[in-house]
Amino acid sequence: MTHSVILTYGTFDLFHVGHLRLLRRLAALGDRLIVACSTDEFNLGKGKMTAIPYDNRVEILEGCRYVDQVIPEENWEQKRDDVQKYSVDLFAMGDDWKGKFDFLGDLCDVLYLPRTENISTTELKELIQTMRGPAA
Ligand code: CTP
Repeated sequence: MTHSVILTYGTFDLFHVGHLRLLRRLAALGDRLIVACSTDEFNLGKGKMTAIPYDNRVEILEGCRYVDQVIPEENWEQKRDDVQKYSVDLFAMGDDWKGKFDFLGDLCDVLYLPRTENISTTELKELIQTMRGPAA
């Protein structure tokens, strides 16, 4: 079934092929893909520090051919408002979030797509750390 507006959320730090494949699959499901990109402040509140600042993560997402619009993710509570504000008919995330957003099901369809295996921002950060070797 084709949807008109699709919405997904994420940090998209150190943009990698898992991110790209997710966005490509989502774009193929509808007409317009909106990505809510988490702000640096929201990440800090979760105890996470991004390697790439918010403005640059947004710039990369906006340059991605599968993405039509980027909006900020500033808190956990905004999802219902965003779904209504942007007339979203499909809310979709990778399946590491399976079940977590089913509460939006009264407003739109909710879908969890399989993640690309063996890649994540966390693993990239660990790999970079390993390549740098032990701190002097
Ligand atoms: N994603 C994916 N496949 C991967 C990594 C991420 O499909 N290998 C998806 C996630 O499921 C999410 C979106 O990409 O829907 C943004 O994920 P994000 O958390 O920004 O990326 P991760 O690489 O999972 O970051 P981290 O390791 O910090 O959790």
